[in-house]
Amino acid sequence: MPDVTLSTLQSLKQSGEKIAMLTCYDATFAQVACQAGVEVLLVGDSLGMVLQGHDSTLPVSVADMAYHVAAVKRGNQGALILVDLPFMAYATHEQTLANCATLMQAGAHMVKLEGAAWLAEPIRLLAERGVPVCAHLGLTPQAVNLLGGYKVQGRQEAQARQMRADAMALEQAGAAMLLLECVPSELAAEISQAVRIPVIGIGAGGATDGQVLVLHDMLGLSLSGRTPKFVKDFMAGQDGIPAALAAYVRAVKERSFPAAEHGFSA
Ligand code: KIV
Repeated sequence: MPDVTLSTLQSLKQSGEKIAMLTCYDATFAQVACQAGVEVLLVGDSLGMVLQGHDSTLPVSVADMAYHVAAVKRGNQGALILVDLPFMAYATHEQTLANCATLMQAGAHMVKLEGAAWLAEPIRLLAERGVPVCAHLGLTPQAVNLLGGYKVQGRQEAQARQMRADAMALEQAGAAMLLLECVPSELAAEISQAVRIPVIGIGAGGATDGQVLVLHDMLGLSLSGRTPKFVKDFMAGQDGIPAALAAYVRAVKERSFPAAEHGFSA
């Protein structure tokens, strides 16, 4: 059992203290992130891009995820480990249950699924069986081909209304947490207020209950040479990686990150 549990995250939301989440893919970084005060380690399928060098997350397999979860578990010092179900690993109920079992047995404490209202069914299925689920809304990178690129979502009023409704429906279905990616700051603030569960943002402004960044991005590392607008380089001015991670946690807690310039307008 980790020191940080769902109740911890709920209490942080209620008290207004921001939650610091960071992606993490191995034991050493898990230890460093925990020592810096990161509460949630996200073993994201972004590993397909930042570790494996693919141009999307689609090639990542459940076996890849399980390998990295097991490594993170070995270095973890009390954080909650959140793990992505990769592309098509939750296409059917049977796959959802079997793949979740693999990842939970490898060390996950919560799983993350990308989608919209249709996630209500898998969320109910998993929650009934004791698996907490984080629903990832907004820019869902596994759907990059359908979305036509990595674009801000929810800018049109109809889209925004749908996202608000989806967030409430998924909370109702039993989601334990929401993650909003590349969503206008105002919409993310409304959703965070409307639901009781913690809402984590990336490119979603400063009003969500917590923040997440991809580890390599916040260390100023980029394979493509392109840095998204919502990223801040926390290595700048620091003398090492542990100090950069501690600076990130401090900035999230003190609400100096994200600044207005890291967010999107409607
Ligand atoms: O896979 C990942 O790292 C993610 C973050 C971008 C939130 O889902």
